[in-house]
Amino acid sequence: MKLMVVGGGGREHAIIKKLKENKNVTEIYALPGNGGIAQDAVCVPIGAKDIDGIVKFASENGIDYAVVAPDDPLVLGAVDALNEKDIPCFGPTADAAVIEGSKAFAKELMKKYGIPTAEYEIFDDMDKALAYIDSSEIPVVIKADGLALGKGVIIAQTKEEAKAAVSSMMADKVFGSSGDRVVIEEFLTGPEVSVLSFTDGETIVPMISSMDHKRAGDNDTGLNTGGMGTVAPNPYYTPEVAAECMEKIFLPTIRAMKKEGRIFKGCLYFGLMITPKGPKVIEYNCRFGDPETQVVLPLLRSDLLTVMQAVTNGTLAETEVKFSDKSACCVIMASKGYPVKYEKGYEITIPREVEDSVYIAGAEIKDGVLVTNGGRVLGVTAVADTLEEAVGKAYASVGKIHFDNSFYRNDIGAKALKANI
Ligand code: AMP
Ligand code: GLY
Repeated sequence: MKLMVVGGGGREHAIIKKLKENKNVTEIYALPGNGGIAQDAVCVPIGAKDIDGIVKFASENGIDYAVVAPDDPLVLGAVDALNEKDIPCFGPTADAAVIEGSKAFAKELMKKYGIPTAEYEIFDDMDKALAYIDSSEIPVVIKADGLALGKGVIIAQTKEEAKAAVSSMMADKVFGSSGDRVVIEEFLTGPEVSVLSFTDGETIVPMISSMDHKRAGDNDTGLNTGGMGTVAPNPYYTPEVAAECMEKIFLPTIRAMKKEGRIFKGCLYFGLMITPKGPKVIEYNCRFGDPETQVVLPLLRSDLLTVMQAVTNGTLAETEVKFSDKSACCVIMASKGYPVKYEKGYEITIPREVEDSVYIAGAEIKDGVLVTNGGRVLGVTAVADTLEEAVGKAYASVGKIHFDNSFYRNDIGAKALKANI
């Protein structure tokens, strides 16, 4: 079978490595992939947002199955366009991807169907938004409606900060049209849990839970990033919490999407906060998380391609999806200065003994040498019987990998290890 994976980060590398475990897979093309993915797939220089280019490539190259991983092409309708050419693929159609593409849509859906989330108001008029802030409690959370590279959420500690966030989104358009509307919501507290799930629109199968570490610095200090590391499972996701999430959040969400005529097929990601009043939805993503995927998929014991095809065919209920009872830890190695300004082009050395557990995100091959080419450069995942061992193993591997100006957090997993449930 010839597969095509759209995307080019660490998440896509993890998906590709897992798909390769299926013996029927003969070739995998990555569009565009990256210098590290090139070890495991044929990289094709077609951008993830180039929907016409993606469809043309798939049609001309006899692709049997496609996986669209990033949010942008999903929201832009890559799956719809591939389906029109009868190319089966994994991922939601655009009308379902809106669950991530518009935060206002997601909030209205949750309100309509009674799915627990933070209280909120939606504004497309800046003066009304500013006036609302005067009457709201702080901290208050300001969110750009559309996609904003994970930067569209501001937790404002003062009213001035909240107003500045609103005017940067609505007047200065720092996120372009994504900030034409804003959601202003209640600040929630509690541990965060990421739950990715497979769903064919009828059946939903949560994957093993995980915990992201979003801030750039140790002890959750510094700027928000795309994610500096993950662990799985997440100790705060107890069997009781899991049962409550299934009943009050997961099933109601896929049923709500079906009722709205927006059947969601693919990976639905629930960003949850376990508040004193129970689990609430912080955000939905219409795709695998990055770097959650780098800890979740290594723990998947079932064949990924089989599960993905069951999602596409609507046969998930009859398909076994099994996870290992081990633990995993992924530490991201980034370029110093990320997420603001950083240099690129440094040679990366990865000893052979750790290669299998490395997922490359921001690197390219220059003159035959793998060099850094992004903020998040790579992730190193270790799997072990206990979380403590997994964390130790991941950091031991990090110590063997080198590129100039690298930095990583030293405390990935620390919060999970200290969790007092
Ligand atoms: P992202 O959407 O990935 O940029 O990250 C948003 C982050 O902001 C979440 O992971 C939470 O840590 C935080 N956040 C979002 N909404 C709320 C809320 N209502 N209350 C508290 N924290 C929030
Ligand atoms: N790690 C969070 C995300 O993928 O959105």
